[in-house]
Amino acid sequence: MTGSHFSLAQLFADGLPAPAPRWTGFAKYNFIGGHNAPERIPSEGLAAAAGAALRREGASLALYHANGPQGLLALREVVASKLGARGIKADADEVLITSGSGQGIDLVNRLFLNRGDSIIIEEFTYAGALTKLARLGVKAIGAPLDSEGLEIEPLARILANLKREGVTPKFIYTIPTIQNPTGSILPRQRREALLALSREYGVLLFEDECYADLTFEEGAPSALYALDKSRVVHIGSFSKTLSPALRLGYIVAEWEVLSRLIALKRETDSGTGAIDQMAAAEYLGRNFDAHVKGLTGALRDKLATMEEAVAREFGSAVEMWRPKGGIFLWLKFPDGFDVRRLQGPAEKRGIVFNPGPEWAAAGEAAKSYMRLCFAYPSEEEIREGVAALAEVSFAETGIPQLSANIGRAGRSL
Ligand SMILES: Cc1ncc(COP(=O)(O)O)c(C=O)c1O
Repeated sequence: MTGSHFSLAQLFADGLPAPAPRWTGFAKYNFIGGHNAPERIPSEGLAAAAGAALRREGASLALYHANGPQGLLALREVVASKLGARGIKADADEVLITSGSGQGIDLVNRLFLNRGDSIIIEEFTYAGALTKLARLGVKAIGAPLDSEGLEIEPLARILANLKREGVTPKFIYTIPTIQNPTGSILPRQRREALLALSREYGVLLFEDECYADLTFEEGAPSALYALDKSRVVHIGSFSKTLSPALRLGYIVAEWEVLSRLIALKRETDSGTGAIDQMAAAEYLGRNFDAHVKGLTGALRDKLATMEEAVAREFGSAVEMWRPKGGIFLWLKFPDGFDVRRLQGPAEKRGIVFNPGPEWAAAGEAAKSYMRLCFAYPSEEEIREGVAALAEVSFAETGIPQLSANIGRAGRSL
């Protein structure tokens, strides 16, 4: 065999994701992913917090788990305290710190799902959840959303039809408070109705509150977990509230479930990074409310800038789902329009966005939707980037014909 070409690729396992492209840096107008606002990262506060915690407790880094496998007690206490605002009465023992809430999703999936199982998911949802479910060979059935979140009657019909076929879905994965990507908040009545369906059909509710700290105006009704702990597993994250790079999330569940998740996490990574947990706990333990207030204010301003820019540049060609918090604007282009046609040309102009099919249970059918993250770019970049996107869109598709009430035909690129 000497001299012949040997590629390790022939030894790779089945069912892998496509290879990652090489990192080529950030686009100038970066509207993808779930990045945070760089100007709201409390660098000084975090540095001081990390320093203080390390000086005080640095010796605990000699241990895998200073406070046991559920994660740093001080951070679990921050979680328990912030959950109070979501109506949840939980103490630190009910919390498992995870390496991002993405790991929370993996652990919950691992605990409940077998290949061939069915679950119900919101018609538009977190792309990461969809890819994880596809990889597990699980059938994800989309349930319709309106501007307030999951619609109860169609969901009841889906459950009844499945029951007729002899199928009990394992769980309903829902993002009731600042839905990703639509930004809706599920009203209290619908939460009660969802729990009633969960009781009627014996289905777990898997509640993802990744963005629940970031509501703009009204508060939100209590979390599903607050309403009935016995049928809900609740996850959340510090990615959107503080920083995605810290990789800190959490799961809250009753012990029967939590004890299994702790065992699964132990098998996965032997614990989440302790310095990150220390810094976050030290900082947020003192500054949570002030930090979140500053961050949501900045996000609200950026959203206003983006909504104005989209309205100005795309006019009536695009409908906006007005988010009640969070970091995303979900857009609907005319039926039949395929936003993926814009991806290549937009990227050449330094603009990146998330195409709808990746955020939809029905995939292809959501080709006229687009998700824009407004947290990372500056307001100037938002204005410029949305204007450039409208130029690209017009050049490729003839839509929008009007921008800022001026006909596009004849406008040079
Ligand atoms: C709804 C939802 N859940 C979970 C995650 C995972 O986030 P992380 O692993 O950074 O906590 C995301 C990320 O965007 C998300 O949007």
